Amino acid sequence: MSRKKILVTGGAGFIGGNFVQYMVDKYPQYDIYNMDLLTYAGDLTKHKYIETKDNYFFIKADIADRETILELFKKEQFDYVVHFAAESHVDRSITDPGIFVQTNVLGTQVLLDSSRAVEVTKFVHVSTDEVYGELDFDPDTFFTEETPLQPNSPYSASKASSDLLVRAYHETYGLPVNITRCSNNYGPYHFPEKLIPLTISRVLNDQKVPVYGDGKNIRDWLHVIDHCAAIDLVLHEGVNGEVYNVGGHNEKTNLEVVKTIIKTLDKSKELIEFVKDRLGHDKRYAIDPTKLEGLGWQPTYTFETGIAQTIQWYLDNKEWWEQIISGDYQNYFEKQYSINK
Ligand code: NAD
Ligand code: DAU
Repeated sequence: MSRKKILVTGGAGFIGGNFVQYMVDKYPQYDIYNMDLLTYAGDLTKHKYIETKDNYFFIKADIADRETILELFKKEQFDYVVHFAAESHVDRSITDPGIFVQTNVLGTQVLLDSSRAVEVTKFVHVSTDEVYGELDFDPDTFFTEETPLQPNSPYSASKASSDLLVRAYHETYGLPVNITRCSNNYGPYHFPEKLIPLTISRVLNDQKVPVYGDGKNIRDWLHVIDHCAAIDLVLHEGVNGEVYNVGGHNEKTNLEVVKTIIKTLDKSKELIEFVKDRLGHDKRYAIDPTKLEGLGWQPTYTFETGIAQTIQWYLDNKEWWEQIISGDYQNYFEKQYSINK
């Protein structure tokens, strides 16, 4: 029997990178192809440990480059596609929405057409709970798979648009797809523009931490390894055409998250600086994962165990995030925030 080929797009980024490592280790019988454009968010140094493995391959390509991608699919005849590649940061989508439409919408369509052309066995589209918009602060309300799509940022609108294309390719052409919609991830190799790694790296350098608005917005945090396990399960067991929400009931206000990190690192709360709120800032996200639990998924980390592991990882891997924050990132930070570096 020939070996299965799994194409992972965006495997040089945060979640895709963790997923590639998880799959290379867990499935020596699969060939894992990591396809990534290596934008500012992509980095291959994280894959030093797997790049010598026989079942790992890297391809540099832009998912929106139709001719190249179609040719690649025809050459490699991928069996499965797990699609992470995207522009993923809400703040960047507020300053520059165009690239979000280009990569997240058009790029997804190119992958769908290419997947159709070679008749893949499964196309898993990794989406986000942000497509559902926001919840109010009533703790008994959750996003389910039936919640209407009401995206509020250019980022979430581009992800919702890609979700609709994925759905349409299933309904129209019978492409075997699943869509996963996950809450906020955290863990190793999280790019330090997002709240948790930004806070850890700045607190470790005794720098101010920018908290938007009053810090009371709520996110539902999931450790990235629990997300990887969920996607693995959907890839193998998901019912074609179905959407699965992924989340572990770990709701925290942003201020709680920042204070936990400061306390764990034994630093002062004086580092917190309240800054201008994000435009269109969603109040609260919270996932009902009942449908995925029905497939047999359970998270293994609580927020408390996951954040302790993550903080320790950033302490042990300073060279990884220090090389990022010393580069172009500095210009980004100065433009984005009006506080002292
Ligand atoms: P990330 O920004 O860390 O990584 C994105 C990766 O995609 C990078 O390696 C980048 O180089 C690559 N990429 C960007 N444009 C590309 C293009 N045109 N062609 C090929 N590669 C390209 O993102 P992430 O946080 O790992 O998120 C991965 C996916 O998961 C995204 O689709 C995102 O919407 C979704 N998601 C993220 C979260 C989260 O909390 N981070 C939660 C739910 C869903
Ligand atoms: O819910 C899933 C989504 O989670 C993913 O689809 C996105 O790709 C991912 O980036 C994330 O989006 P958020 O906007 O929720 O994550 P971020 O880390 O940017 O912000 C988390 C919360 O912290 C949010 O309420 C805004 C706030 N925040 C963020 C930053 C960067 C601050 O208060 N200060 C900051 O400097």
